[in-house]
Amino acid sequence: MIHFSFLLVFLLIGSLFSQKITDCPTSAFDPPNHLNQTIWYPSDFSNSDPPLFSDYYSCLYKINVPKGYHAEVRLTFNQQMPPIIPAPVQVIDSQSLEEKLFSATDVPYFFVSNAGFIKLDTRELGIKFGFRIRWYKFPSTFNPIILFTQNSDTQPLIVPSSSIIPYQVSADTNVSLVVSNPSQGYEDLLKSLIIFDGPDWNSRVLGSAYQIWKFKEQKVSSGKLMTVAALEPFYDTGSMLLFQDFKNTKDFNKYQCLICYPEDVCDSVFMNCGNTESAALSTITLSSQPAEYLKEIWLGDYGVLDVYMGRLTREKSNLITSYQSYGKVNTSSYLPQKFQGTVRTYHLHGHSANLHFTLSPELFTNNVPVGRHGFFSSKFYKSGTPQKNQDSFDYIRTTDTVIFNFEITDADLAWGSTLNIWIRDKSVVTYNKTFTSSSPPNLLAPIMATGNYMEVSYKTNYGQLTNGYFMNPVVNIDSNGKLEKLNLPKLEVVKCLGNSCSIIVNLNYPKHPKFCITIQELNAFTRKRNQVYLNINSNVCIPKNEPKACTVPTVGCERLIGNLNITKGFDRIDIKELEFSYIANNSKASYTDFKSCYALRRAVFLEGGFWPLFGDKGCEQMESPATPMCFSDRGIWEPCSRSPITL
Ligand SMILES: *[C@@H]1O[C@H](CO)[C@@H](O)[C@H](O)[C@H]1NC(C)=O
Ligand SMILES: *[C@@H]1O[C@H](CO)[C@@H](O)[C@H](O)[C@H]1NC(C)=O
Ligand SMILES: *[C@@H]1O[C@H](CO)[C@@H](O)[C@H](O)[C@H]1NC(C)=O
Ligand SMILES: *[C@@H]1O[C@H](CO)[C@@H](O)[C@H](O)[C@H]1NC(C)=O
Ligand SMILES: *[C@@H]1O[C@H](CO)[C@@H](O)[C@H](O)[C@H]1NC(C)=O
Ligand SMILES: *[C@@H]1O[C@H](CO)[C@@H](O)[C@H](O)[C@H]1NC(C)=O
Repeated sequence: MIHFSFLLVFLLIGSLFSQKITDCPTSAFDPPNHLNQTIWYPSDFSNSDPPLFSDYYSCLYKINVPKGYHAEVRLTFNQQMPPIIPAPVQVIDSQSLEEKLFSATDVPYFFVSNAGFIKLDTRELGIKFGFRIRWYKFPSTFNPIILFTQNSDTQPLIVPSSSIIPYQVSADTNVSLVVSNPSQGYEDLLKSLIIFDGPDWNSRVLGSAYQIWKFKEQKVSSGKLMTVAALEPFYDTGSMLLFQDFKNTKDFNKYQCLICYPEDVCDSVFMNCGNTESAALSTITLSSQPAEYLKEIWLGDYGVLDVYMGRLTREKSNLITSYQSYGKVNTSSYLPQKFQGTVRTYHLHGHSANLHFTLSPELFTNNVPVGRHGFFSSKFYKSGTPQKNQDSFDYIRTTDTVIFNFEITDADLAWGSTLNIWIRDKSVVTYNKTFTSSSPPNLLAPIMATGNYMEVSYKTNYGQLTNGYFMNPVVNIDSNGKLEKLNLPKLEVVKCLGNSCSIIVNLNYPKHPKFCITIQELNAFTRKRNQVYLNINSNVCIPKNEPKACTVPTVGCERLIGNLNITKGFDRIDIKELEFSYIANNSKASYTDFKSCYALRRAVFLEGGFWPLFGDKGCEQMESPATPMCFSDRGIWEPCSRSPITL
């Protein structure tokens, strides 16, 4: 008898399943008495194979979520016909966010009060469909992790999303939240991370972490408080939450947050400024992961990309570098650039950009003419406050012997910190210096040496706070003997960070007999600078209407580096032009004419000479170093020894 009734039940279920579902429930789904119970619709089914629904069936399912509750709905459907628009299934959550679906296998949705909806419209698609629901109750007491973020912070707050305890965050103005990419396969589960517009989970729902990640948009609280809570069942998605005060992020049209790991996440990142002309990307490096290298930037039309160590600040104290162009300039001559620290914010002004990152420095170290470009710095340089563990090690390897040409612009050598730089050419050490507080570097004085390997290491004593160091190693394009032009016709301004900087175009003759720099490029390199150190070690391109060449008096290396005394042999008119072109006193904003510069340089280069320009005081008053410096035959920037060149 017992056996018989089991068989009967089995047959009943079997016949139910073979029929197409035709009826739409008239009432909403409510939580059961015992919350450990799962509600299935239409009835229990194996996840991949729900029951078939009849054609032209349409139904709106309502899932009630009383206050203090939340629900997880897992939805599965497939169709026998190819997907067509409009979508047969739509999920509408408690915040009226609509998601259109064309297929789903056990996809999770999370609803908070008051309700969520699922809309099904089968048409003739042969739809198999079903879902299951479980309700949960928020704990009766709200004991959050309390966090603060201030408008003046240079670093945003970063916390893992994998916290069972909710976060309550306050800010000076409003709280802004962005969410980094989740671990692969965990994307949908970000929907379980809910953002509330207020002090606790009874506040209005602002959305989910999924929306932030998916739409690349920050969520902002309407007041000073925001709550983020992970709903049950608890999932660890691997995302990080990045909170900051909204004041400086309000213009961002799109705001993405990425952990470039695995590497392909940041292989190509598109930024779109929309009509606010502003968009941002924050990247996070967790200590176990390598820092990212920016290897290529494509700035559509006009664009400026500022990079901050931490968050964007209005006073720009933590701005570490900036890329700027008019036209679609390939900025590779400054790249690849290694970025360090915990968070970087790439802020784009303009229309759109494509950023290409890698985590693999090997790409730049083997079998490439010059590996790294761009600046070197300690790990947390410019992150706002002195930091521990600033130690860093960097190197450039090249296939040919090149001129390493760099300047140290900042080095905190207090408390026994040291900065060592050494360069070798094959096995010969051509430069080796350790800077300490008792033998500090001459900031901004260029250092040059030839070699095929340069290594820089900064060491601090354990636990010691320092400001770190920064070193600008130049646009180094030496090793490309075939290079004839920089070809930056649309480059209008090269931006100088800080209140002083140097321009070094280091294409040494005779290795680059055909290379020349155009007058437009010279203009771009020197415009809008506060203080200029110019070292254009190359030929200047001959313009179409070649001006009359200068007659240069008998001067040698020392004379040119020191006082350039224009003697009688000089044509007076050319002297005026020279002054006009070369003289950049500290407050003068731009050079406008390089005609004479080109002529003089050409004359000097014909003799194989070398002529660095100290352009901050003017020809007559050029600052003369205590010991005149020359670029010697060994390729080292050192006190002059060669006899004056006669022109
Ligand atoms: C569900 O909870 C109720 C009441 O706490 C309990 O009696 C029942 O055994 C539970 N069922 C399961 C399957 O855990
Ligand atoms: C930020 O906070 C202010 C003051 O509470 C409020 O008026 C404003 O609407 C908030 N901004 C946003 C984007 O919610
Ligand atoms: C940009 O320039 C670099 C170096 O000159 C070159 O390797 C790279 O292919 C260029 N990128 C594009 C897309 O042209
Ligand atoms: C650099 O100089 C220091 C001290 O003079 C020495 O100990 C070190 O071995 C040198 N490094 C190289 C690579 O020659
Ligand atoms: C510059 O040259 C003039 C004329 O030869 C000479 O009188 C003058 O002393 C020189 N000035 C300097 C600073 O060498
Ligand atoms: C420096 O440049 C400013 C602006 O062009 C000018 O007014 C000033 O006289 C210059 N100073 C010197 C010492 O040439």
